[in-house]
Amino acid sequence: MSLIPEGDPVASRRLSEAELVASVSPDAPDSDVDSVIVDPRRAGAATLEFARSVALGLSDTPPWLHSRFLYDDIGSRLFEEICEQPEYYLTRTEAGILEQCASRIREATGPVTLIELGSGNSGKTDYLLAAYAATEPSVRYVPIDVSAGILNQAKDAISVRHPTVTVTGVADTYERAFPLFKEFSPAMVLFLGSSIGNFDQRESDVFWQGVSDALSPRDFVLLGVDLVKEESLFNAAYNDAAGVTAQFTKNLFARINRELGAGIDLDAVEHVAHYNSEWQRVEIYARFLSRQDVYLEPLDRTIVVPKRTMVMTEISRKYDLEKMKEYLRCYDFAVREVFTDKKRWFGLLLLQRLPQMPRKSADQR
Ligand SMILES: C[S@@+](CC[C@H](N)C(=O)[O-])C[C@H]1O[C@@H](n2cnc3c(N)ncnc32)[C@H](O)[C@@H]1O
Repeated sequence: MSLIPEGDPVASRRLSEAELVASVSPDAPDSDVDSVIVDPRRAGAATLEFARSVALGLSDTPPWLHSRFLYDDIGSRLFEEICEQPEYYLTRTEAGILEQCASRIREATGPVTLIELGSGNSGKTDYLLAAYAATEPSVRYVPIDVSAGILNQAKDAISVRHPTVTVTGVADTYERAFPLFKEFSPAMVLFLGSSIGNFDQRESDVFWQGVSDALSPRDFVLLGVDLVKEESLFNAAYNDAAGVTAQFTKNLFARINRELGAGIDLDAVEHVAHYNSEWQRVEIYARFLSRQDVYLEPLDRTIVVPKRTMVMTEISRKYDLEKMKEYLRCYDFAVREVFTDKKRWFGLLLLQRLPQMPRKSADQR
């Protein structure tokens, strides 16, 4: 089932990037306690993976870069700053819902391990950690994020605020951490901040199939989604007056220079963001004001990006609650509760993985 019109020209190519990532990546790391796990086997592979992804994206038509590379240590710090901008309503609104509903969520799930995908600074998660720590002698929290720096920062802050919470951070991608879900069952997987909106339709389908397969029956998911609303709010949120989102986009190219030796003139990179109402998504691009010859050192390859090229760096899809609920049912999730703010700008869905129905054999059909 699709939430948006079919035919996204970038979607199929972005999926081939996921296949490429799988081809150069070793298995998920083993778990540990009170720590942030960074798999040392991935250090070299990560740079090569980044270079290959940039080469694939920049030489494609239309060109794109994968949004997860926006988050190195500098990008993660800039994202924290974006969350504090007056125009960026998402974080404040979702935090307000969590503050109101954390105890209710704890009652609904009972004691579970909290696993968070793309946890960032875990700021909003604090409401949940407090609610679970108030009712259990010990709580296990497993934040998973590609940015090791932000994971360490979050772990230190949590151990001061919640001494009974054991933090096992995993510095890796969402999908490489899926095999951990069964180890930590009973669990609730948190996917907040409308990070799901960064996936196009095909990536979303693959993601939910993976989460559904990886979870044990009766485990929970808490999903944060930004809802469709007045267009001007989106255009303001992704073009903040202080220019922090513009710096965030630019940092992706600075990172390509730092890690891949590319030599891109950063003054030639301009942030462009606008809401596409047909596709119900904010689209973020880097517009090239002059031709750039992008050299990728690990591949010894140069990609020419002509003047006026628009490179898509991120999408942020906006959702209709009813359609989203129907979509999630296709992946064997029951929607247990829905929480929203008074303006219905943002939604939090508490989902539960249903037991798999026995498949009918051909002669029973
Ligand atoms: C939009 S931010 C949301 C952060 C936080 N959950 C919040 O709600 O404020 C996305 C986070 O996911 C991480 N991230 C992005 N893509 C990822 C991926 N493919 N695998 C793991 N983490 C990812 C980023 O480093 C970043 O911290």
